[in-house]
Amino acid sequence: MRRLQEAGLDVVVAVTANAQRFVTPLTLQALSRHRVISNPWDLEGGTDIEHVALARRAAAFVIAPATANMIGKMANGIADDFLSTFYLATQAPVLIAPGMNDKMLGHPAVRRNLDCLMEAGVEIIDPGEGYLACGDWGPGRMAEPAQIAEAVGRLVEKSESWRSQHVLVTAGPTQEPIDHVRFISNRSSGRMGYALAAAARRRGANVTLISGPTSLAAPRGVYRINVRTAEEMRRAVLEAFDPATVVIQSAAVSDYMPRQVQTGKPAKQRGGMRLDLDVTPDILAELGRRKGKRLLIGFAAETHDLKRKAQEKLRRKKTDLLVANNVSREEIGFESERNAVLVLDSRGREVKLAEAPKTRIAEQILDIAEEYLPS
Ligand code: C5P
Repeated sequence: MRRLQEAGLDVVVAVTANAQRFVTPLTLQALSRHRVISNPWDLEGGTDIEHVALARRAAAFVIAPATANMIGKMANGIADDFLSTFYLATQAPVLIAPGMNDKMLGHPAVRRNLDCLMEAGVEIIDPGEGYLACGDWGPGRMAEPAQIAEAVGRLVEKSESWRSQHVLVTAGPTQEPIDHVRFISNRSSGRMGYALAAAARRRGANVTLISGPTSLAAPRGVYRINVRTAEEMRRAVLEAFDPATVVIQSAAVSDYMPRQVQTGKPAKQRGGMRLDLDVTPDILAELGRRKGKRLLIGFAAETHDLKRKAQEKLRRKKTDLLVANNVSREEIGFESERNAVLVLDSRGREVKLAEAPKTRIAEQILDIAEEYLPS
């Protein structure tokens, strides 16, 4: 709290019932110079209304330390105290600094809940190693206060430039039907696009996500439109294009589609089958022609000659930035949680982003994009 105050932020503190066993609300009230929220049922002085106003107004919502219990409640939408209720109600970006015993942190249930929160767009400030409250040494120790304050400060600062932006993101593969049950598609999981949508939302942007079929949940506060084919994606993108100030075309749009869709499920032919394929509409190239002042970001997945091909695509499709993936490496990229990319701009600048989780790569891509945001 002190460090956030030092950074010029106004801090309102809420304590759970268990936290009050460690520190009294009075101490926190004296330090924060605000009434401490300790009981959601406390209506004295109209605080229930204040809570609603706070949920709307807060620039960030930070839970430190976040216990296994709180993480479990957040991941499952349980709202049985002020913090868990506030989490569901607030529009503010959420950061959590987990702190718990190492065995608890490694438990599959906690891992699953953390993954789920990350997918929902919560920023997780990783715990470090150290002496834990239980006396053991290991991972699970809450990140240092300075590190938490820095993450919060960074997020609040970034939201200055992103709050006024309308970001349109496409993600996932498309499916091009052969008949009623068969289709052509690709190995895209949608993770990169979803991570970009979540990161843009965390920075306060208004985000629309147009998604091909994936197994991912929509990040919190992001408006998702589901599509299946390249043609459906094209129509949805063009419909949402007008208000957009930033367009990130990260979907792995199928390059080909069957020229004719057969009805029903034709029986298997013993001698095999020939497919007559047409190319799909190039959505990105079409956006490039109509982009106006918008910031347009394209992607390229290549197995060789990455840079040269990416530069050629950037020019041909008239994008401002192009994020190039080397998809020949099995361990990263498609279907993986991790990625390593090369970001090119139209002035010949290039930035290499080293292998990292896609959530981290998404943050770095937006950091680069920030310099090109339309005013
Ligand atoms: O030409 P290539 O498919 O490699 O270009 C990749 C970029 O173009 C990606 O941003 C992808 O989303 C976009 N694209 C598209 N429509 C297509 C094919 C690709 O928007 N039909």
